[in-house]
Amino acid sequence: MIHTNSFLPLRRFLSRSESEIPEELQRLIIDVAQSCKLISMAVNQGALGDIYGSDDTQNIQGEVQKKLDIISNQILLEGTEWTGRIAGIASEEMDAVYPIPDPYIKGEYLLLFDPLDGSSNIDVNISVGTIFSILKCPDSAHRGSDNSFLQPGRAQVAAGYVIYGSSTVLVLTTGVTVNAFTLDQRLGEFILTHPNMRIPRSTAEFAINTSNLPYWTDPIRHYIDDCIAGKKGPRGKQFNMRWVGSMVADIHRTMTRGGIFLYPQDSKNPQLPAKLRLMYEANPMALLVETAGGLATTGTHPILEIQPEKLHQRVPVIMGSTEEVQVVLDYHQN
Ligand code: AHG
Ligand code: MN
Ligand code: MN
Repeated sequence: MIHTNSFLPLRRFLSRSESEIPEELQRLIIDVAQSCKLISMAVNQGALGDIYGSDDTQNIQGEVQKKLDIISNQILLEGTEWTGRIAGIASEEMDAVYPIPDPYIKGEYLLLFDPLDGSSNIDVNISVGTIFSILKCPDSAHRGSDNSFLQPGRAQVAAGYVIYGSSTVLVLTTGVTVNAFTLDQRLGEFILTHPNMRIPRSTAEFAINTSNLPYWTDPIRHYIDDCIAGKKGPRGKQFNMRWVGSMVADIHRTMTRGGIFLYPQDSKNPQLPAKLRLMYEANPMALLVETAGGLATTGTHPILEIQPEKLHQRVPVIMGSTEEVQVVLDYHQN
C-alpha cells in the first residue's frame, strides 16, 4: 500500500473538508461509520453467523423484524449513545424516540437511522445497507423530545448511507458535496474513493417495482408505459429497468451512473398510500441526491421541504437524474 496525497481516510477527509464541519459532528459521523463497520462484518458472516431469519417481533410499522434488523439497530445504539454527542435517537426499528440513558451526557445532535435497509434481501445474499440522517437539536429545553426531530429534510446537517455490497461503501454529505469512501478491509478504514459524486443529468434507466402497476396513480402509469414503449413510443428512446429491492442499492446505482428511482404512491393498501419513510429513508437520500445535482420529489412536492408530522411518516419517493425526474413532474402537471 503506497500512502500518497490522494490516500484520504474518512477521519482526515472530515478534518480538512472544504466546509468547516464542527468537530462534534465529525466525531459523530465517525462513530456512525464505526458502527457500520461492525454491521458490515455481521453481514459478511452470512450463514456462518446467527444473522439470517426472523425473531418473532414486529416493528411499529407492523413489519416482521429480521434478526439483522435488530442486531444492526443495537450496534448503532451502542456505538453512539455513550458519546455525549447526541440528544436522542430515532430508528425504523424503535416505536418512539430513544432517549440517551443515564449516566451518559446529552449532546447537540439528533441521530436517525434505518439500521438495515433491504431486509428482504438479507437471507438471499443481495446487497443491503444502513441509512442515516443527522439533525441539530433545536433547543436545549426539550433536548431529544419527539418534536425536536420533526424538522424538514433541508435542515439535515449530514446524511449518508453505507452499502454492504461486493464492497462496503459509505456515501456521505454534509450538504456541500457528496463523497464516497470504500472500506479497506485490511486497514479497517473508510478511504475516499469517489470524490465529489455528480449524478448524470439524463438517463435511460428506471427503477420501480412494476408489480404495483395496478395500484399506481395515472401519471406514474403513463410515465412507465411511455418508458416501456421504447423508441417507438412518445419518449423515443429505449429504457432499461432495474429493481434490487434495497433502496440503498438502487440509489447507489442511481448515484453512480444515473437513473430514476420511484417508490410512488399506490392504492394497494389504503392504510399505507406510500411505503418509504420520510425521516430516515427519503430525507437522507434526497439530500444526497440533490447535493449530487439530482432531484427528489413526491411527484408534487420537493421531499426536502416536507414538514414532518410524525416520526415514522411515509412518503412517495421519486428521485435521481434531474431531467428524468422533471419528466415525471411534467406528467403530474399535465
Ligand atoms: P426496509 O428493509 O428498511 O424495510 O426497506 C425496504 C424498502 C426499500 O429498501 C426498498 O426500496 C423497498 O422497501 C422495496 O419494497 P418492495 O419489496 O415493495 O419492492
Ligand atoms: Mn429501508
Ligand atoms: Mn430497515
